[in-house]
Amino acid sequence: MTPMDFQSWSDAVLARVESALSDWVPASAPAGLGEAMRYGVLDGGKRLRALLVQAAAEATGAGEDVIGAEAALRAAAAVELIHAYSLVHDDMPCMDNDVLRRGKPTVHVQFGEATALLAGDALQALAFELLTPEGDAVPPAMQADLCRLLACAAGAHGMAGGQAIDLASVGKPLAEPELRAMHRLKTGALLQGSVRMGAACASDVPTAARKALDNYGAAIGLAFQVVDDILDVTADSAALGKTAGKDAAADKPTYVSLLGLAASQALADELRAQAHGALDASGLRDVSRLRALADLVVNRKN
Ligand code: IPE
Ligand code: IPE
Ligand code: MG
Ligand code: MG
Ligand code: MG
Repeated sequence: MTPMDFQSWSDAVLARVESALSDWVPASAPAGLGEAMRYGVLDGGKRLRALLVQAAAEATGAGEDVIGAEAALRAAAAVELIHAYSLVHDDMPCMDNDVLRRGKPTVHVQFGEATALLAGDALQALAFELLTPEGDAVPPAMQADLCRLLACAAGAHGMAGGQAIDLASVGKPLAEPELRAMHRLKTGALLQGSVRMGAACASDVPTAARKALDNYGAAIGLAFQVVDDILDVTADSAALGKTAGKDAAADKPTYVSLLGLAASQALADELRAQAHGALDASGLRDVSRLRALADLVVNRKN
């Protein structure tokens, strides 16, 4: 797939997801909650998790029928809602205390802490509401699978658990296996979960392909946070849309603090190669978009 083909595929997916999110996130929620929810999730973000859902759905043939396409769009929106909620809470004073996100003041700066907390809660609940539409648009077993995958990726043994380790590790130099475990949970789980959810929209995926997609998801999931650690040091706040240099300032253990920049970049490159290798072994027909997304995870500038 040429870079231009990837760009036009990605533009089309992003337009669809953005418009679905705008339709589904309710401005009407009471007492300013809707405004804060929409502020936290719309018009910003790379939407990498949504792209992974769609690419995995297409690689497994899910996009070809009406049910799979509907489920994939809902899954893409749901995972972005969970991600947005995690960012709203991550930025709050009790966690990373950040004032800038996606080039704008953070939700708690704009709307106050209590509203930010509730907006995160409500975004999380909305994610599961989207995965369980009434009627027969998505079969009940598929709804249940998608909910389970998202809950596992977001919960105590996924993102929230990783965030707990992150906060408990301030000022403590972690050894590589511990740092890896933290990164796999706080960030990797939701990225791997996105790939799993895309595949769960297909009716029948061979076990070997599922395993290969899992290996792919694990590799890019870790790579993503390694690159996040690198960019915190090498990029500026304008490029990132969030305050650069925060990890060192907050004394967080990161790949850069543990290995330095060059070895961290080498690890990201190695993980990209692992992700590509997993796709080559998957036996799936068209993995070109997933392949390009692994490149994007490692080459991104923000
Ligand atoms: C930032 O994620 C938080 C991490 C998990 C490292 P992204 O870099 O995907 O944030 P957006 O969605 O593009 O803003
Ligand atoms: C956040 O990791 C991971 C989340 C689950 C939100 P970071 O704290 O490094 O993310 P940024 O750098 O603030 O985006
Ligand atoms: Mg954090
Ligand atoms: Mg943070
Ligand atoms: Mg970071």
